[in-house]
Amino acid sequence: MKLIIGSDHAGYELKEKLKQMLNEAGEKVEDYGTTTEESCDYPDIGVRVAERVAQDADAQGILICGTGIGMTIVANKVPGIRAALAYNTYVAQYAREHNNANILVLPGRVFGKEMAEAMVRAWLNARFGGDRHQRRLDKITEIEKKYASAAKQTV
Ligand code: RB5
Repeated sequence: MKLIIGSDHAGYELKEKLKQMLNEAGEKVEDYGTTTEESCDYPDIGVRVAERVAQDADAQGILICGTGIGMTIVANKVPGIRAALAYNTYVAQYAREHNNANILVLPGRVFGKEMAEAMVRAWLNARFGGDRHQRRLDKITEIEKKYASAAKQTV
């Protein structure tokens, strides 16, 4: 499994810390930027990470912006992405177990490193429950398809 990580300037510092933790844990990490604390636009990074994760079943993503909200909105525009904004370890764990979130989104300006690391570990160590949760995800996929075909008809 590859971990695709990205942030805007507000998440840059936390991204660098998480990258170090993940590298030390032996995870395969690909960094999609940003590379400095200079102001940038979260949709530019978020869409690249989300498209990469959507195209590769072996890839999972971590996105960070100031609140986590912008990155969550952007990533969930990409079909096949289930991006979940985590704010504690319970939510991070259930983002995997119930929602099979393929992108974990974290706020860069809310928590310290320890809490962020604990949320990433909770998400990585959890397993999708399947069964009724898969039925619910299938319904989300149907909604995606409905709006994708509606968009094609209006072009
Ligand atoms: C950047 O200032 C900030 O707006 C961004 O990181 C994010 O919090 C947006 O949702």
